[in-house]
Amino acid sequence: MKTLVVYYSAEGHTKKVAEEVASNLSADIFEIVPEEPYTKEDLDWTNPDSRASRENDNPELRDIKLKTTEVPNWAEYDRIILGYPIWWGIAAWPVNAFVKLNDWSGKTVIPFCTSHSSGLGDSDLNLKDDAKNGDWKDGTRFFQDALPAKIKTWCDSL
Ligand SMILES: Cc1cc2nc3c(=O)[nH]c(=O)nc-3n(C[C@H](O)[C@H](O)[C@H](O)COP(=O)(O)O)c2cc1C
Repeated sequence: MKTLVVYYSAEGHTKKVAEEVASNLSADIFEIVPEEPYTKEDLDWTNPDSRASRENDNPELRDIKLKTTEVPNWAEYDRIILGYPIWWGIAAWPVNAFVKLNDWSGKTVIPFCTSHSSGLGDSDLNLKDDAKNGDWKDGTRFFQDALPAKIKTWCDSL
């Protein structure tokens, strides 16, 4: 079984968890990068005029262009671990763009999110809907500063 960890991380928390997962599973890793990365100001959810707030208010603005959606050797991977932050209770939308533009057929997909306090919600199910195909498993939620031991326990359970 060949595993790839795909993640989006705006502020580094999901990146850390994704790297820990990849290390535990001896998996390859791929970062989803928006063409226009989010700055600290963009992410200020306390400001109703910030980029993230405006995109949250208007779903039509959430169709984020990515640097690339082409993963080297995508066809070779049987299992994809998909990591993302929670924004206002749902998956950070750069991840939806990646999911929509890739072919998930023949792949087992295991989502995880990081958040400050929210749960996974329906974020994994919504991504599954965007994907159209693939064998999507239930996701899991990690605290934004998840301890390596917690991450290892989850990896061992897969
Ligand atoms: C725009 C924005 C919205 C957020 N919304 C939520 C939320 O609804 N619930 C929550 O628990 N955390 C929320 N957070 C916190 C992030 O989910 C959390 O810090 C996450 O681990 C960030 O991952 P990252 O550092 O990989 O980007 C939000 C953060 C941002 C920037």
